[in-house]
Amino acid sequence: MPPVDSTTSTSAESNTCPDNAQLPLSPSPRSYSPESSGLGSPFAVVGTPPRGQARAQITTPSESFSGTLSPEEISPIDIEAKHKLRSEALLKSQSQSAKMPAPVNVLMVGTGEYTTGFVGAGASTSDKKVGVVGLTMFDLRRRGKVGELSMVGVNGKKYPAIREHLEKNISQVYNGLDVSFKSFPADDTVDPGSYKAAIDRLQPGDAITIFTPDTTHFPIALYAIQRKIHVLITKPATKTIEEHQHLIRESRKHGVFVFVEHHKRFDPAYSDARAKAQKLGDFNYFYSYMSQPKSQLETFQAWAGKDSDISYYLNSHHVDINESMVPGWKPFKVTASGSRGCATDLGCVPGTEDTITLMVDWIKKSDPSKVATGVYTSSWTAPQKAGVHSSQYFHYLGSKGEIRINQAKRGYDIADDETGGVIWHNPFYMRYAPDEEGNFGGQSGYGYVSFEKFIDACNKLNAGEITLDELDKRGLPTLVNTAATGAILHAGRVSLDEKRTVYLEENEGVWRLGCACRRP
Ligand SMILES: NC(=O)c1ccc[n+]([C@@H]2O[C@H](COP(=O)([O-])OP(=O)(O)OC[C@H]3O[C@@H](n4cnc5c(N)ncnc54)[C@H](O)[C@@H]3O)[C@@H](O)[C@H]2O)c1
Repeated sequence: MPPVDSTTSTSAESNTCPDNAQLPLSPSPRSYSPESSGLGSPFAVVGTPPRGQARAQITTPSESFSGTLSPEEISPIDIEAKHKLRSEALLKSQSQSAKMPAPVNVLMVGTGEYTTGFVGAGASTSDKKVGVVGLTMFDLRRRGKVGELSMVGVNGKKYPAIREHLEKNISQVYNGLDVSFKSFPADDTVDPGSYKAAIDRLQPGDAITIFTPDTTHFPIALYAIQRKIHVLITKPATKTIEEHQHLIRESRKHGVFVFVEHHKRFDPAYSDARAKAQKLGDFNYFYSYMSQPKSQLETFQAWAGKDSDISYYLNSHHVDINESMVPGWKPFKVTASGSRGCATDLGCVPGTEDTITLMVDWIKKSDPSKVATGVYTSSWTAPQKAGVHSSQYFHYLGSKGEIRINQAKRGYDIADDETGGVIWHNPFYMRYAPDEEGNFGGQSGYGYVSFEKFIDACNKLNAGEITLDELDKRGLPTLVNTAATGAILHAGRVSLDEKRTVYLEENEGVWRLGCACRRP
């Protein structure tokens, strides 16, 4: 494993507090009026995107009148008053429509397993055969929450096969769901820099999702943020805490929302447990385990062990759950250990860890004499036919109680002669069965909910209905609310590479890896 690159930000930068002042969004270039649509007054346009006019609903003035007149208002007839009331209601309705911004346009960056379910030769053999991001975005477009969709990858030659895969496995399964999208680079081109041209095509207030190898998250996110584009980054947000802090500062400067896709926060059992933990006294101990089968090493061969490790990939889930469970505590010391042998036997680069354990000490912010321990283990060398794609469980011990959750086997198993053996399914994450009308019906799965929360927040920000500070206060996995997780994951990598314990320092919300000799 090459040493972690921490050259993107100086230590002086990492000591700088982020500017938490709320920057207003620029006057919305997304605001859309009937006149600008070319439809002209007196027609009112309801919820219409400027570039997706096919979805526009056009109403006449009388249809758009929403004021209710009681019999007393009509009789005795005061024609003048009635007309005044009608025209006031009409004006109000038109001005509301005029203020309504178009639904956010979304560029999906990365066209691999999580976005399309297409991996090299065909559909993934994991539980995400048709992916998560693309399907969710196509369905959110059907529901009017997003506008235009586009995708950007590295190798445009994959697009004909990806389109065929989406047509066959999504469109033909869910009532002809529209799976069209603009693509970058062109179908005959290979270009790792084409994300820039694809982002340049967006307007301020549009959004991107990033599902690419971990080292590429930072430059892609930064390029988008500096163009006032909202960003959803898969976990881990970045590989170093300096990059994480830099994105916080830039996102505030440019007034855009950055959401880290920690979907386990929306798992109903995990989310309930996080709330219940608040009543179980002081944090004392957290243990978690998460694993995926060896076949993932083949899917991720382009980056597994080279650009990132299993701790960034899977420990990120439970470290974030722990961080979000104990807002009154902060981590201060990280020691990592990793096992090796299986991944390298399977062809991964020398040094690739199979299983990584992070041991983290936490202190109570209001009483540093109180200390808790977190142990987070993850592996990508689990058996091929363990019956689940992701093993996932944790044990939380507080001073007044404990919580145990095992979410791998959720009480739903299928035995199938073709696959052989029993498989435990998790429709609470992605439910791929169509609804009674034949449409995609998995809107309540936490894999979907996570994206919908991001899209709703972008639309509300664009409409001026919410601020970035309010989104942070809601406890969503924003960059600000995931900084300690970023610091722990980075410290874990440094601990492995330098074979030492790494201390963490935090000053008014700004995190950095501390000096080996400093203790809180
Ligand atoms: N697959 C999962 O189950 C899963 C779940 C949650 C999060 N993630 C995260 O997703 C990321 C990997 O995505 P994946 O799982 O789809 O993996 P993948 O290896 O199947 O796909 C990676 C994609 O990134 C693209 N890419 C690489 N460099 C790029 C660049 N410069 N510009 C545009 N595209 C680029 C590749 O072309 C490829 O399409 C990782 O950060 C991982 O932690 C994956």
